[in-house]
Amino acid sequence: MSSKKVVILISGSGSNLQAFIDKQNRGELGGQVTTVISNKADAYGLVRAQNAGIEAIALEHTDFGSREAFDLALAEKIETLNPDLIILAGFMRILTSQFVERFKGKLLNIHPSLLPKYPGLHTHRRALENKDEFHGTSVHFVTEELDGGPIIAQSRLSLNSASNEQTVMQDVQRLEHQLYPEVASWFLNGRLVMEKEGVNFDGQKLRSPIIYGEDQS
Ligand code: GAR
Repeated sequence: MSSKKVVILISGSGSNLQAFIDKQNRGELGGQVTTVISNKADAYGLVRAQNAGIEAIALEHTDFGSREAFDLALAEKIETLNPDLIILAGFMRILTSQFVERFKGKLLNIHPSLLPKYPGLHTHRRALENKDEFHGTSVHFVTEELDGGPIIAQSRLSLNSASNEQTVMQDVQRLEHQLYPEVASWFLNGRLVMEKEGVNFDGQKLRSPIIYGEDQS
């Protein structure tokens, strides 16, 4: 079994976490999810972790007096775990630059839009309101800029007149569950590196995001 260690940060349902667990169980992840940390004690993702025999920790941000204090405690906990990769999977917290700097280059996030479109919240609603033809999800390295780090890969779908926020969310999540663990496996297998100017994939500078999966656009 690979010795690469993965820590996953969540805030909610953890369906992306589940996709990582499933890929790991198929022997395809290239690493092992050792610990799941949630900033909410009632996050269902913690139950998913426990069911899979993975250490599950609740570190509630409401127990801390400031964003800096919470991020410091989180960073110190993560450092004791010594992970090779940290996955933000529906971790709904803005991270301080001190936190991001500490783990730069091994911190990945998934965001439910075709970045750089729609950083922040309500991405599906905004894509529908703007009558976008295409929508999707992006995996990127995390930098100080919110949802702004170098984009590694995206999965896309087309929107139509029958699309609504609920169906689009489900469709995007289905894509995420394929995309995110796959990108993580590239990282764990040494194929993906964050550089000053962007992303290096298989020894080459990535000029545009990898479009992953069946391109439904
Ligand atoms: C995912 O769809 C992810 O893209 C989104 O939260 C959801 C978490 O679902 N993340 C963000 O919006 C981050 N800005 P999950 O808990 O079922 O994996």
